[in-house]
Amino acid sequence: MRILAFETTCDETSVCLLDDGRLLSNIIFSQIDLHRKYSGVVPELASRAHLEKISWVLGAALSKAGYRRPFFVGGRLRGPKIDAVAFSRGPGLPGALLVSRVAAEAAARLLGAKLLGVNHLEGHFLAYEYEGMTASRRIKFPCIGLIVSGGHTELWTAEGYGRYKVMGRTRDDAAGEAFDKVAKLLGLEYPGGPSVEKEALKSGPSGFDFPRPYMEDSFDFSFSGLKTAVAYKLRDMLGNDFYEKRLRPSPADRGRICLAFEEAVADTLVHKTARACADTGIKSVIVGGGVAANLRLRRKFMELSAKSGYEIKFAEKRYCTDNAAMVALCGARRLAARATGGSLDIAPDLAVVSWPGK
Ligand code: KG4
Ligand code: ZN
Repeated sequence: MRILAFETTCDETSVCLLDDGRLLSNIIFSQIDLHRKYSGVVPELASRAHLEKISWVLGAALSKAGYRRPFFVGGRLRGPKIDAVAFSRGPGLPGALLVSRVAAEAAARLLGAKLLGVNHLEGHFLAYEYEGMTASRRIKFPCIGLIVSGGHTELWTAEGYGRYKVMGRTRDDAAGEAFDKVAKLLGLEYPGGPSVEKEALKSGPSGFDFPRPYMEDSFDFSFSGLKTAVAYKLRDMLGNDFYEKRLRPSPADRGRICLAFEEAVADTLVHKTARACADTGIKSVIVGGGVAANLRLRRKFMELSAKSGYEIKFAEKRYCTDNAAMVALCGARRLAARATGGSLDIAPDLAVVSWPGK
């Protein structure tokens, strides 16, 4: 089964070709340089850049995969077959989502392939199944899914492929968004996650402590208060107008703040996941999304695993941030389950839901 997949939900333009679980290519063009000077993704610039790059990325993905174009003989398409074309139909930025939608539909029509609109968040979850360039791992169901990205922080129970129930989600900022905003306050580069992580790794013991927004009565998250706590700390250190005056803490204090912030985010994510396991009796956890690349978070989850016996798995680092390979895998699992129906409309606020009929 051969699947061509498109991903343009936010600031990565990515196309891949997956052939019977083997990734023949997974080209990712990142727009980070474009958005860096704004310290965040500018939606209009993102969609234009996707539009400019998508055919180059598609061409690179096909040529890396050694895929020769099909040709028409007597009105019929000949050549290497592609069974399905998958694209992320949401959640994401509306203009950015349209680029994949249009490119995928054109490709599917041309290739006579099935068109599948998949859920980007499910892609982050399934990305765990890649080991190197092969989708050779299998998620052990039932499990708890924790998706931590720039736009989302969600905790699910997953009974099987396409059978998901949301337990909680963020009420304000996503975990990655909090990293990005704190980085901005500290004058660090976008994207904030890797920048904050780098500073924290350089720091000795922090000495600072930020609140853990555990919200014990619910499985929801809230990270905006944590960002405010960092802003208050900087105000105390540098004065009320530190942001307007672009005043920055010393490198040592910056590192200590990054470390304390990272600890608070990681403790919160681990605490709520542990509680979800205890409440449901489920002992297997999959963590996905850009923030899942964070080393301190991974370490804290490993500590939980050693203490509790829970089996906690992460996507490989290269598959944590946005990529088309995870989109292709959603398509592959749907094809295998013959769950190929469902809407093809873009859906900027798409929530994770079970597949039709599941
Ligand atoms: O999953 P992703 O690529 O895009 C979305 O679907 O949003 O996640 C991007 C987010 C950004 O907020 C970025 O700062 C964060 O993931 N991120 C990290 C790390 N790498 C990326 N956060 C913490 N530590 C990291 N190493
Ligand atoms: Zn994502």
